[in-house]
Amino acid sequence: MTALPPIPAPAGLPAPRLEGTDWWRGAVGYEIYVRSFADGNGDGIGDLAGIADHLPYLAALGVDVVWITPFMPSPGFDHGYDVSDYCDVDPKHGTLGDWDRLAAGARELGVRLFVDIVPNHTSSHHEWFRSAVADPTGPYRDYYVWADPAPDGGPPNNWLSHFGGPAWSIDPGGSGQYYCHLFLPEQPDLNWANPKVMEEFAAILNFWCERGAHGFRIDVAHGLTKDPALRDNPQLRPVVHGMHPMDAFASFEHIHDLHRAETAVLFKQWRDAVRHHDAVLVGEMDTRNVQRFSEYVADQTALHAAFVLQIGLTPWEPGSIIDVLLEYQRTANGGCAWEVSNHDQSRATSRYGGGEQGLRRALALTSLMAAFDGMLFFYEGEELGLPDAVLTGAVEDPMSARNGEGMWTRDVSRGPIPWTDGHLNGFSTAPSAWISTAPLPTELTVAHQVATPGTTWHRYRDLALLRKRYPDLWRAPFEVLDRGTSHIVVRRGAVTVIGNLGTSPVDVGGLAAIAGARTVFTSGADFDLASSGVVAGETTVVLTA
Ligand code: NOJ
Ligand code: CA
Repeated sequence: MTALPPIPAPAGLPAPRLEGTDWWRGAVGYEIYVRSFADGNGDGIGDLAGIADHLPYLAALGVDVVWITPFMPSPGFDHGYDVSDYCDVDPKHGTLGDWDRLAAGARELGVRLFVDIVPNHTSSHHEWFRSAVADPTGPYRDYYVWADPAPDGGPPNNWLSHFGGPAWSIDPGGSGQYYCHLFLPEQPDLNWANPKVMEEFAAILNFWCERGAHGFRIDVAHGLTKDPALRDNPQLRPVVHGMHPMDAFASFEHIHDLHRAETAVLFKQWRDAVRHHDAVLVGEMDTRNVQRFSEYVADQTALHAAFVLQIGLTPWEPGSIIDVLLEYQRTANGGCAWEVSNHDQSRATSRYGGGEQGLRRALALTSLMAAFDGMLFFYEGEELGLPDAVLTGAVEDPMSARNGEGMWTRDVSRGPIPWTDGHLNGFSTAPSAWISTAPLPTELTVAHQVATPGTTWHRYRDLALLRKRYPDLWRAPFEVLDRGTSHIVVRRGAVTVIGNLGTSPVDVGGLAAIAGARTVFTSGADFDLASSGVVAGETTVVLTA
């Protein structure tokens, strides 16, 4: 196996690099899909020990905070997003002792940790659900959402599961009632109208804060509360046989099962629960409605920030992408967590056209996002320019595994990180990894890219460090100096950012802000803007006065 080269930490920067309770506002985050980052014990599955061993890599990349996908005990029907005990570590991913070692190492390097909390649903193996089923008159019954059948004996309403089929399954305890699950039947939805559920989660958040977490990524944060009358969702178009479950789900207007105004209010209780730890709450927010999004974050009494999933869900249309950025910048009062990708979708380089073009676009857009208020997240492997994995074995994603052969699968973004060009690209010493993917070439490995100046890794690192070196980039007043169909020029204090997402070069030489300015970052080939005045297509450039 090729050894990893030593990874020098960036010099001249304090650790932690951002201080105070508002540290998150300028932070660069990094999402780790725990199964696929690094396998510390050689069983083929990524784990906390693997992350702890690679902390210097994350610190060197300039990452301020790492979001780790769920590593708690779970039967694994949705690879960890079905939690059976919120206050422990699944043996597949290590022990609480491994977490403690990770937390201590991270503290030393100035890297903060976000735990991924799954409050919309538990696993059907959680003791709360087992008790709810075993004793319909007991205290746990009301932890979940139950309803009598419709008059024809079928599900109580027309709600669908994101993963296919109705959002209702019959009580395995034989009461004749249905329970609600917006995901798998093995992921029963919690009833957040019951204040006991909030009490339980306040204790869970406290548990992780006391063990060194600095905040939480909150799964399906837009979904917690449900219409008390369980009304049907309005249907937008017919659902036909063979449709992808995500398309079937999108055929309804989700006003009664998701995006309810009560959920934003509920997060004020979450904020109170973590205030004494100064922990940061960042919600997954699957909405295209910026007003609704802002209800969670704009007054800073509920969530600190939420992921703008709309960027990753918008096809490569430069004008629309810039519109979305500006809309959230204007409305969300800085409560944005920007990302182009995550573990639930195709990788950005593949979505944006693949090859050199896809990579150029992903980096140009990520660099432009760095100049907007809020957190900036990289998804693991983006810093290497990874394309979608080529899958060579069984489908692992339950969404596609349950819905038939050949269906698009989230597995494409969940392949192991290629550390080296050795066995399993240095991810594990096991004979095989939990997911089978084609080996990746040397040029895409960490070992090669870290050791080679000018690689994608170095661009992402330069970008992450830029937010530290020039904090004006995310905290000085935001002014739009110029806006074209596919480009935008933003000034933030002493820093000017030109994002040209279109294919044609843009001449900005006439702008006063360019005169005498120094180019400190470019997402494309190195050049000096002050002398040429022209920004190449699909390139973002950062200048200082
Ligand atoms: C969103 C998570 O990102 C996804 O991976 C998961 O399947 C669902 N929520 C259900 O928890
Ligand atoms: Ca392992």
